[in-house]
Amino acid sequence: MAGTAQPMAGKVVIVTGASAGIGRATAAGLAAMGAHVVMPCRDAPKCEAAMARIRNAVPNASLEMMRLDLASLGDVRRFVDEFMAAHRRLDVLVNNAAVVKGRREVTVEGLEVTFAVNVLSPFLLTNLLLPMLRASAPSRIIFLTSALHRRAHLDLADLQVERGWGTYKAYDRSKLADILLTVALAERLRGTGVTANAAHPGLIDSDLGREMSWAQRAVKRWISKPATVGARTSIFLASSPEVEGVSGRYFADSREAEPSGEARDKALAERLWRACEGLAGLGTA
Ligand SMILES: NC(=O)c1ccc[n+]([C@@H]2O[C@H](COP(=O)([O-])OP(=O)(O)OC[C@H]3O[C@@H](n4cnc5c(N)ncnc54)[C@H](OP(=O)(O)O)[C@@H]3O)[C@@H](O)[C@H]2O)c1
Repeated sequence: MAGTAQPMAGKVVIVTGASAGIGRATAAGLAAMGAHVVMPCRDAPKCEAAMARIRNAVPNASLEMMRLDLASLGDVRRFVDEFMAAHRRLDVLVNNAAVVKGRREVTVEGLEVTFAVNVLSPFLLTNLLLPMLRASAPSRIIFLTSALHRRAHLDLADLQVERGWGTYKAYDRSKLADILLTVALAERLRGTGVTANAAHPGLIDSDLGREMSWAQRAVKRWISKPATVGARTSIFLASSPEVEGVSGRYFADSREAEPSGEARDKALAERLWRACEGLAGLGTA
């Protein structure tokens, strides 16, 4: 935008789940700062509509759609190969995409969908992109989580919630796992110039509850804030000089906050990391 600051000019950013909601608002905000924003989407027409909407607000937005279905680890690997072949750097990775499922489903690879899309695929995506993030340092990784992690307990013996599956049991655990992976990742990234932080966006009006009942969706819409508000913490973590070098933390309302005790358990984070390595077919770090 003419006359506006472009603090992200020259930076390449990936925002998953940018076809809707908080991800789309995050992509718009970072594009307005001059970043080239890659939008990995599973639904091309929906992504094109999102791009048109962003360009409406940010006419000179530099946007790129790429195909990615996070419900497939194989597709994550294909995406990373294509991204690395087409790009020379990656400055920010925003692991934003997520699902809330109405019933237990499994992916083509036999993984429970909430765990696969919200945890394991972002874990694999991040790990496969790490060489490029390291080479582009200082660079940043952001995991979208939720305050709902506070009511979750992780069962490492039942990561895919085979026992007593419930919509929020699966979702809340996945968001706890996202913080724990952020903690484990930050430990591994010490001294590399790559930071990893977790962001709670607030209660936001979006498509996330599309599989919830009509009444639940109505209540959520009534009490929630717009996606542009939800995107603020992600945009802050992706771009602000205030958080240069800050890593392994949990943020809400663009301020550091204290997550649950379980989310700060480094031994648990390490055990989850190892379990995810095994499930994603990665060697030990
Ligand atoms: N909304 C809230 O109140 C709230 C509160 C706390 C935390 N959060 C977190 O904020 C983040 C964004 O949520 P939101 O509210 O903006 O949700 P949303 O409107 O439902 O958007 C989710 C995005 O994820 C994408 N996605 C879902 N499954 C995918 C898959 N298999 N492959 C690729 N992309 C996939 C969706 O793509 P499609 O368009 O193809 O479905 C969509 O772009 C999530 O991590 C969520 O946990 C949200």
